[in-house]
Amino acid sequence: MSPFLLTRTLPEDATDAALRADVRTGLTRRPKTLPPKWFYDARGSELFEEITRLPEYYPTRAEREILLARAARIAEVSGARTLVELGSGSSEKTRHLLDALPSLHSYVPVDVSESALRGAAESLLADRPGLSVHALIADFTRGLALPGTPGPRLVAFLGGTIGNLLPDERAAFLHSVRSLLSPGDGLLLGTDLVKDEATLVAAYDDAAGVTARFNKNVLAVVNRELGADFDRDDFGHVAVWDPHHEWIEMRLRARRALSVKIPELDLVVPFEAGEEVRTEVSAKFRKEGIGGELAAAGLRLDQWWTDSADRFALSLATAV
Ligand code: AVJ
Repeated sequence: MSPFLLTRTLPEDATDAALRADVRTGLTRRPKTLPPKWFYDARGSELFEEITRLPEYYPTRAEREILLARAARIAEVSGARTLVELGSGSSEKTRHLLDALPSLHSYVPVDVSESALRGAAESLLADRPGLSVHALIADFTRGLALPGTPGPRLVAFLGGTIGNLLPDERAAFLHSVRSLLSPGDGLLLGTDLVKDEATLVAAYDDAAGVTARFNKNVLAVVNRELGADFDRDDFGHVAVWDPHHEWIEMRLRARRALSVKIPELDLVVPFEAGEEVRTEVSAKFRKEGIGGELAAAGLRLDQWWTDSADRFALSLATAV
């Protein structure tokens, strides 16, 4: 039987404490904010899967196209013996990479969701008996310790999720990734690219309203976890392109003046009519910007691959 290890670096109650702190801080400041990581309960993860199949939401398909086309090259250039995947979820897109890395020794999926990690490991090991899987339950934005698996290591952070971090958080994140690597190890990074506003906005405000439901799901999470009384019908879904920061913002806009009780926080949150809560930043990138941010963290951009419509990029960087 192949080895499967699961290490928890995140205390069982850390999620609850973090949610409380984020909701209190975010809803008592102006403008109000809620971090995007709270979208992803079981329902939110389902809705995100649905988003990835929408005609307007191109990033998932574009990234898959690049991964399929470049997996062999990535394997060859990186020579990876250990693949670490941050925010691995179901590890679905990693399949293409794993298929291209027949001599891989270890796969280290990192996610906050234990159930996602167990499910992914089980299905992977069915296909790849002999692969050592060491799953980490961890919040990769908070500093990670990796198991002592053989190098070279390749850390993959796919899907464009790095776009959810604000510029200073991104810099801190890239530095912490670099600290996990030895010179010669690699980082494979998926980033959505700057493009025309109409395409971007449509990807975050689809005609079928799935993204609106995904956005409002965070209110259901706060209701369930903290006893709040948000009514989703009181809020409208907003997606706007910020051309200065080059990011999409998702917001929830109060349709009328109202107040929300959050008993678990002993908090009442007033909203003015039209007041917005920022629920997500999804930054879009350019090659020069990525190259500069990687270099600042001690990572050299070696390969830059885009899909056939130049919508999305995969970067392969090497620790210097
Ligand atoms: C999973 C963070 C990459 O920003 O495009 C999809 C999440 N938000 N539709 C993104 C998301 C709205 C997605 N990431």
